[in-house]
Amino acid sequence: MAAKAIEVNNLTFSYPDTDEPVLKDINFSINHGEILGIIGPTGAGKSTLAMCVNGLVPQVINGEMEGTVKVNGSEVSESSVAKMSEDVGFVFQEPENQLSQMTIEEEVAFGMGNLGVPRDDMRVRITDALEQVGLTGFEKRSPLALSGGQQQRLAIAAVLAMRPSIMIMDEPTSMLDPKGKNEVYDVLKNLKDYGMTGIIIDHEVERIAAYCDKVLVLYEGEVQMFAPSEEVFTNIKKMHELTLNAPQVTEFLSSYNQAFGKDVKLSTTLEEAVDNFESVCK
Ligand SMILES: Nc1ncnc2c1ncn2[C@@H]1O[C@H](COP(=O)(O)OP(=O)(O)O)[C@@H](O)[C@H]1O
Ligand SMILES: [Mg+2]
Repeated sequence: MAAKAIEVNNLTFSYPDTDEPVLKDINFSINHGEILGIIGPTGAGKSTLAMCVNGLVPQVINGEMEGTVKVNGSEVSESSVAKMSEDVGFVFQEPENQLSQMTIEEEVAFGMGNLGVPRDDMRVRITDALEQVGLTGFEKRSPLALSGGQQQRLAIAAVLAMRPSIMIMDEPTSMLDPKGKNEVYDVLKNLKDYGMTGIIIDHEVERIAAYCDKVLVLYEGEVQMFAPSEEVFTNIKKMHELTLNAPQVTEFLSSYNQAFGKDVKLSTTLEEAVDNFESVCK
């Protein structure tokens, strides 16, 4: 059987000089072509977990790690951070912190420079990456002249050009306005249709429900749920116990059931919710 895209076994991690681990006995895996959403309150350990997958933790950001993290079957701890960054692309929260070049095409070329990609190949990759994020025609412009949403799409393009097999996005839309959020999620949808494997950390449960195959709920460093998105979000009692909310449509059905003693089947999509609602109201 082919190796999993990501496989995490018994991962425990502590930052130096802290009493309690920030990640406690984490286990999960994802297949190629799957998108995993990670949700949980601030401080739950989401970013730390994401950085364990590309080796930044503990290789650059030190601490004590137990357990194993494998990417495409190879142990991350046995690989250099440089090698891992080819395999696992990382997009951070603030777009402007990830941008450093004078023009958009230079920005996309920048990461590839370190990989030793031949010039002709670079050109093709720049064109492809900008097309994937909808920034074709912007090559000669300054990254600073872009909106937040466009800047984040550019940051994604720069990562895509390195052709990683896995993409991790850590709250890529939390600094963006609603238009910018939509732009980034449209790109994510394209990547998903394209077969990209990825992890997305976000507080936007509506989007996570719509775009992610599976969801992992992290709470105080522990995995509280790891299941298909629908299964996680319809376990509304557990979501509330963990101080999290389900998508609004799921919350609505649950509140309705409680208020009127009904038993409408919960769902995360509007279409299904309407059907389920209709079938009990007849
Ligand atoms: N470099 C660090 N050194 C020490 N503690 C840290 C460091 N980075 C994060 N932490 C702590 O680890 C916990 C998890 O942080 P983080 O992974 O950033 O959570 P999240 O992304 O879910 O908000 C928090 O309590 C945070 O304060
Ligand atoms: Mg974080």
